[in-house]
Amino acid sequence: MQFISPDLDAYCEARSGEEPWYLKDSPPRRARGYTCPPCSAAICKAASWPCSVSLFGPRIAIGIGTYTGYSALCLAEGLAHGGMLHTIDIDPYLPEMVHRYIEKAGMLDRITMHHRPALEVIPELPSPFELAFIDADKQNYPAYLEAVLPRMAKGGIIVADNVLWSGKVLAPPQERDEQTAALIRFADMVNADPRFDPVMIPLRDGVLMARVK
Ligand SMILES: C[S@@+](CC[C@H](N)C(=O)[O-])C[C@H]1O[C@@H](n2cnc3c(N)ncnc32)[C@H](O)[C@@H]1O
Repeated sequence: MQFISPDLDAYCEARSGEEPWYLKDSPPRRARGYTCPPCSAAICKAASWPCSVSLFGPRIAIGIGTYTGYSALCLAEGLAHGGMLHTIDIDPYLPEMVHRYIEKAGMLDRITMHHRPALEVIPELPSPFELAFIDADKQNYPAYLEAVLPRMAKGGIIVADNVLWSGKVLAPPQERDEQTAALIRFADMVNADPRFDPVMIPLRDGVLMARVK
């Protein structure tokens, strides 16, 4: 997962601003021994940055992959007044714990949790989305892009985590696993589509940000 040295990673995290109290206090990172790698503070800061710019402040944002809710709290912080973050996760054991932390952070009024496969939920959500953060099962990234794009606002931003997949995206085609192949296809789809203005940032496991023109 981590191909930047832990020391360099810690150096970056330590220089990505102060974590607000409600993030420091967020749920145990490895709840129930669940092995999903949690978002880093730097990644969430990068993802939430466009959200936090007061001029941009989205009214409807979506997060695909809630896990312990860290990225959801980061994204919700920058919503426009009255805005809503729809955060989606398939794991049936997370909602109760995540709900507690959202409540503690005082953000219940701006985060709606959905507990079904993201591809089922996305078409049912209100739109247009002004921010979409993709951080769930990697093999579905191309499908998430197809589901989200028609519902994005002009000027909206898609942010996807793990697009370098520990550097495996450089493996020769015969050595790529399903997830690696899907991540490459996802990045190629974004770059081949003239509706996007994309930038891939080698931050931690790689972040792709694409503005919808
Ligand atoms: C990398 S974790 C998300 C980390 C999270 N963004 C954070 O702030 O730490 C990926 C999550 O995607 C969820 N997931 C996997 N497949 C999914 C699907 N088909 N639909 C919705 N969520 C899914 C997993 O249950 C897991 O919690």
